[in-house]
Amino acid sequence: MKQGKKIKMPVKDTPSLDICARPRRNRKSRSIRNLVRENWLLPEDLVYPLFIHVKDHDEEIESMPGCRRWSVSGLVEEVRRAHVLGIGAVMIFPAVEDSLKSQFAEESYNPRGLVPEAVDALKEQVPEVSVITDIALDPYSSDGHDGVVSASGEILNDITVEVLCKQALCHATAGADIVAPSDMMDGRVGAIREILDEEGYTNVSIMSYTAKYASSFYGPFRGALDSAPRGGDKMTYQMDPANSTEALRELILDEEEGADIVMVKPAGYYLDLVSLFRENTDLPVAAYQVSGEYLMIKAACESGWLEEEKTVLESLLSIKRAGADIIITYFARKAAEILNQIRG
Ligand code: PBG
Repeated sequence: MKQGKKIKMPVKDTPSLDICARPRRNRKSRSIRNLVRENWLLPEDLVYPLFIHVKDHDEEIESMPGCRRWSVSGLVEEVRRAHVLGIGAVMIFPAVEDSLKSQFAEESYNPRGLVPEAVDALKEQVPEVSVITDIALDPYSSDGHDGVVSASGEILNDITVEVLCKQALCHATAGADIVAPSDMMDGRVGAIREILDEEGYTNVSIMSYTAKYASSFYGPFRGALDSAPRGGDKMTYQMDPANSTEALRELILDEEEGADIVMVKPAGYYLDLVSLFRENTDLPVAAYQVSGEYLMIKAACESGWLEEEKTVLESLLSIKRAGADIIITYFARKAAEILNQIRG
């Protein structure tokens, strides 16, 4: 980088003939700042994750203040409201009744299950909005794991991938635009691509949770779905927060297996990974600001310690600046409202 000439600093801030680099000139007014602005956050960048349940009314989620578990009709209305603000894609996560959970998570590919019903309603009533479904077994697993658990407590990879393929096909049949495997089993992206293509769903995209870390920041989400592991943790399949080179290996594999979009999760504490992905792939990069990140900002703002509107936008802009094309955030609707007000 070119450096300004070394000069002696003037003692007083009076007109001076000394040559001095003055980066502040590019910050002197809002219009100049806008001209030189490198990154703009847009409602169109955001994906809005939403929780659903079978009940016919909406419920506040205790572990995630400000978020709700929606009925299917409540979901459709919320997606409509988000769409008016410029949000073009939503992700849906089902809260599944205990009686439907099982070791092999059969409910995950029930064509009459909650997710197919919700996808169908959304595609019927707000067809312009892209629907992304989560591919993993945890909401349906009696063990609360993303995969099938053996009697000895092992998470079985290849058997799980077979179930995930059925789940992806079930969601594609219901009309999902994108399926998003969040389970971290090996080989699942390639297997899902193959079954979707075989069955004629060549247009259904795969957004892969490529570098998904075994993070404490998922706690509030598991509270929302009552999907926490009943035993053990997720360290044998989700990545070790200490590693980044290993994420490149996952990235190469997902590219080879046919992912359309690659994801880093969580986002805020993993911005180095977002940049690393941006530099190492031509695929679009998504980043997921997870429930714990949401909650930290929300809690600090509710207690008056931080100012919500600015903090939310700054947290999302930072993720964009790091290199994300797509940002998944529970603040999506709120952020889109603020962005529209600024524009308006
Ligand atoms: C399920 C899944 C999880 C999240 C997204 N999909 C939980 C987990 O892996 O334990 C976390 C999202 C969040 O915390 O906001 N596989």
